[in-house]
Formats: sequence, structure tokens, C-alpha cells
Amino acid sequence: MKRTLGVCYYPEHWPEDLWEQDAADMVAAGLTWVRIGEFAWARMEAEAGVLTWDWLDRAIAILGAAGLKVVLGTPTATPPRWMVDKHPDMLAVDAHGQTRKFGSRRHYDFSHMGYREESRRIAQLMAERYGKNLHVAAWQIDNEYDCHDTTLSYSDAAKRGFQDWLAQKYQSTAALNRAWGNVFWSMDYDTFDQIELPNLTVTEPNHPHQLAFRRYSSDQVIAYNKVQADAIRAQTDAPLIHNYMGRITTFDHWKVGADLDIASWDSYPIGFLSDRLEGTEKEKLKFLRQGHPDNQAFHHDLYRAVGRGRMWVMEQQPGPVNWAPYNPAPLPGMARLWAWEAFAHGAETVCYFRWRQAPFAQEQMHAGLLRPDRAPAPALAEARQVADEFAAMPDVGTAQAPVALVFDYESAWAWDVQPQGADFEMFRLAFAAYRALRRAGLSIDILPPDVADLSAYKLVLAPGLMTLSDNLRAALTTFEGIALVGPRTDTKTEELAIPDVMGPDLPNVDVTVALTESLPPKSKIKLQGGGRFLHWFEHLEGTASVHLSTKDGQPAIMGEDHIRYLAGWPDDATFDRIIGGLCDALDIETFALPDGLRIRDTDTHRFVFNYAPKAQRWGDVIVPAAGVYWEEL
Ligand code: GAL
Repeated sequence: MKRTLGVCYYPEHWPEDLWEQDAADMVAAGLTWVRIGEFAWARMEAEAGVLTWDWLDRAIAILGAAGLKVVLGTPTATPPRWMVDKHPDMLAVDAHGQTRKFGSRRHYDFSHMGYREESRRIAQLMAERYGKNLHVAAWQIDNEYDCHDTTLSYSDAAKRGFQDWLAQKYQSTAALNRAWGNVFWSMDYDTFDQIELPNLTVTEPNHPHQLAFRRYSSDQVIAYNKVQADAIRAQTDAPLIHNYMGRITTFDHWKVGADLDIASWDSYPIGFLSDRLEGTEKEKLKFLRQGHPDNQAFHHDLYRAVGRGRMWVMEQQPGPVNWAPYNPAPLPGMARLWAWEAFAHGAETVCYFRWRQAPFAQEQMHAGLLRPDRAPAPALAEARQVADEFAAMPDVGTAQAPVALVFDYESAWAWDVQPQGADFEMFRLAFAAYRALRRAGLSIDILPPDVADLSAYKLVLAPGLMTLSDNLRAALTTFEGIALVGPRTDTKTEELAIPDVMGPDLPNVDVTVALTESLPPKSKIKLQGGGRFLHWFEHLEGTASVHLSTKDGQPAIMGEDHIRYLAGWPDDATFDRIIGGLCDALDIETFALPDGLRIRDTDTHRFVFNYAPKAQRWGDVIVPAAGVYWEEL
């Protein structure tokens, strides 16, 4: 696979007489792609129905003439002010019932049919104009679904849409009342139009009511994306892309991805470390200028699967960002390391965000490849270095990983709605499992919850799945490796109730979660032979073999040869021990990696990345801080 670099560019932010030089400088920096357009609606259509394309025609022509390939974004994340006058009820409403105002971005409600039609219209107009343009080689639809918490809206449009969705799903209120257990507090409904959105209730709304609203809201993102995808696809063969975010679980990315050709994501390792990830103060200080050593890898692996093998980084942090609580600069070398790491995980393209730092508006403190005065910022030379290194590196393909982790968005909603313990969250649990696999030096595939074939894997982890899909259960029935499922896997029905025969329902394994407890920070369940569970512990019953016990003799892992159930949330050292034991049993090679060093295998090479702030040893090789090393396998 041929690797390429790119950059995000906003011609509308700059005088036109800079465009040609910018384009030439991008090419000189070794860049192939330039993404434009995604926030420029007010320049394309300053008044409803008055379209102005000439500036965009010229921008595309200039960039294309310089030899760049354009990713053209639909501008639907930034509806202009006139749109809000035209559709005053298109603004989203937060859970407190407050309307979210115009004056930044993403001020639209996915349920608003008038706005959905406006979005389809602008996408179609752009596709009609640029669908056959030879310089436009890919399309981005909208920008970062759910950014700024925008998947859920408690508007009238959402309420009407939700009631209709419920009527279609349940057909009768009697069926809905039964499914939700509405008898519990006399919550039964007689008609669908009595059903409110699940906010502003006196105490928590019924869990299946909330889960239904999460499913409905995800479906609106999928439908919203699809109307644009269909409109563009009718005019072009170029691939369609969306730029997903890190640690966003509010909509089903597997389903949005099914309507697109490539999954891309926006990688801000340093911003995420301080803004979005758990970790001790010590860890956060150690990785302050590098980002968490597993966070980028997790999302590369996730989105490679969401894109059915095709993945990009659409926005790569180049220097300090503006939006995290604290915004340090990367260590010299990280803008190169992050790009190589993305390529090692299968990325086709990495685009830095953004070309030149804007001297105005919300993101003026956000670095680019150039400073606001057009002088090079530090990341420019690192991008150039990566581009030069492509030549020295043969094309590498994605290898078959020996281990897999199943990741499910519906389960994330289920546990948001019913955490049962303040620290229980799906991403956090899945990421804890993933990190343990990475610390063992493993290359990992992430799989959707309806995966039907596990035969390529030796070890499969499936923590926190609300239910097992029929496909996955069938795949487990014939699985010849070891699947470690749990904690909290297959213990609920689709409606987030406890099944008549209590779960999990695992093929040929007699184990039942009889009682569940969640634990506050610092409280732990000690395990025999060392180690402990944090946050969560399930009391298991059944005749299956006990593979690990707690110190006071309760089962901690139960199961048979090929499927085992993990009863708690291991701390890092315990996860390491469990994964190490399973890998030994399965003859999977593991590594004792020095702190901050991570590896990733492609089909031809082993890549070594040093996230530590100091040099680390890999065999005989010294890998400097923020260094990348690769060797042929
Ligand atoms: C992303 C977004 C970009 C820009 C960037 C700043 O979330 O897609 O438009 O805001 O963050 O880091």
C-alpha cells in the first residue's frame, strides 16, 4: 500500500494571492492531499439559494495544478446564520432543556428533517459541481459527528422522531410497556405521543427508555450521514470518508462506516491525554508531550476495522492545541512518530491539522505546520522527514493479528445508562484490556460485535458486551483458541433487563453471574497468587472449571478450554498476568517491553515506537525518546 501525507487547509481564511504559494509549499513539504471546504458554507451560499462557487473553483484549480489531490468536505457542521432564521427549530436542545445557540459550530439537530434536507441539498450541489473534477479525489462528509456533545438532542424534532421510531419498533404501547417493564412505577403509556424524551425526570428515567433514545439518536446520525453519502455517490466514484473522533461512543460507528468507503479519525494525542483519558498524575506528566502510548493505536485499530481495512488520519496534531485544559508542545520527533505509527497500523494517509495557524477566531492558539506569520512551525520539517522516509521504506500491508478485541457501541450506551458503579464505562474497560495486550507487545485487531468468524485468531477478548450476538455465539461454539469474555458480558437482554435464565449464555460453559458488586476507588478484591480486581466484581456460580480464584476462594475466572469468563476488572498488573498466561498457553509470542516502548507488526516489518521521554533499548538498538525504529520480520 502506498502511504501519503496531507494537510487541512482553509483557503477562505486567507487572501487569494497566498493560495498559489501555499500550494507550492505544500508540495515542497512532501504533501499529497489537501482537505478543504468543511466549514465554508457561508462562503458557498451567503444567502439562501445564492450559490457562489467561483472562489472554490479557483482554490481547487490552484491546489490541483500544483499537483495536490483534494479531499472536499461538505460544510454541514457549520450552517450559516440565515439557516437558523429559516429553520429556528433546527438548533439542538441539551439535557437541561436549554437551546444551544448559534455562534460556534455543530449547532444542528440530527432529528431536524428540514436541516437534513438542507444538508442533502448542499452535498448534492457540491457533488454536481465537483463530482467529476479530476482534482477532487475524495470527499469528507460533515465534520466529527458528536463533537461538542451533539449526538443527543432533547428538542421537539427529536421527540417527534423518537415517538415515530418507537411506534415502528414496538408497534403497540402494550408491547413497549411490557418490553420496558413500565409496570414498575406505573409508567405505562396508552399512546406513543405520550412518550417524552428521557430527560428532566424526577429521578432516573427507566433504563430501556434511555437505551431506546440512545439507539434512536445513533440511527439519526446514520441516516443523516447516508443522505449526504447517497447524494455524493450519485455524482462521483471518489471514496467517501468521515473523520471520527477519539473516545466517542454515542453513535454506532460500525453502521455509519458501512455507508462510507474509508474511516478516518482525528488524532490529538496530547490533547486527549489531558482531556479525555484516565491516568495518574505521574503517568500524565511522563507522557505530557507524547500522548498515551496506546490511545492512538487503539483508535487506528478500531477505525481500520470500521473502514473495512481502509483507514486514514484526517487530522493529526502538529503542535499545541487550544482546547485541552493544558496544551503543551510535543517532544521533537512526535509529529513524525505519530505518522509512522498510523502507517504501521494500516493508515493510507495522514493529514496534519492545519496548514497555517489562524491568527483569528476560536483556534488562534492552535498550532499548524506554519506559524501565523508563514514561517515554518516545528512539525513542518518532521512531515518532510516522513515524506522522505517513504522512499526508503517498501510498501507494508496489514498483517493478520493473533489477538482480537470485540468492541460494541450499544454496550457503551447500556453502561452509560446503567453504570451500576461510577467507574464503569465501556471505552475504559475495553481500553484497559487493549492496553494489556499492547504491553505484551501484541498486534491487535478490533472486531464488531456481530463478527461471525474468529478462526484467524488465537486469543479473543470480549469484555462488557451487553449481549452476545447470534453470530458471535455461533463463532464461539467452534472457536479453537481461547476467548476471555467478561466482566459484564451477556448478562442482559436487548432491553437491558436481566434474562429469565441469568447470563452469560456461553456455548458449553456452565457459569452464571449470580450477584454483581461495584467498588469505590482504592477498594479491591485480592486474587490468589497476587493481583486484584478494581471497580467491579461478579459472583460466579456453575459447574465450569475455576481457572483463577479470589483470595477468599471465590471464582475469578471460570470456563472450559476455549471460553472463559472473567469475573472482575483486573488492575494493570493483573491484566498483564492474565494475558501473559493465556499467551503462554496459546503459544503467542509476547515481549517484556521497557516502559513507553510499543511495537506493531505489519506483514513485512516490526515497528518500534518510543513514547517514553528518554531513550529505551530494543534488543541491541537504542531508540531515542520520540524515536521510531523498524526492522524486517
Ligand atoms: C477537531 C476539528 C477541527 C479542529 C481541531 C482542533 O476536533 O475537527 O475542525 O477544531 O479539532 O484541534
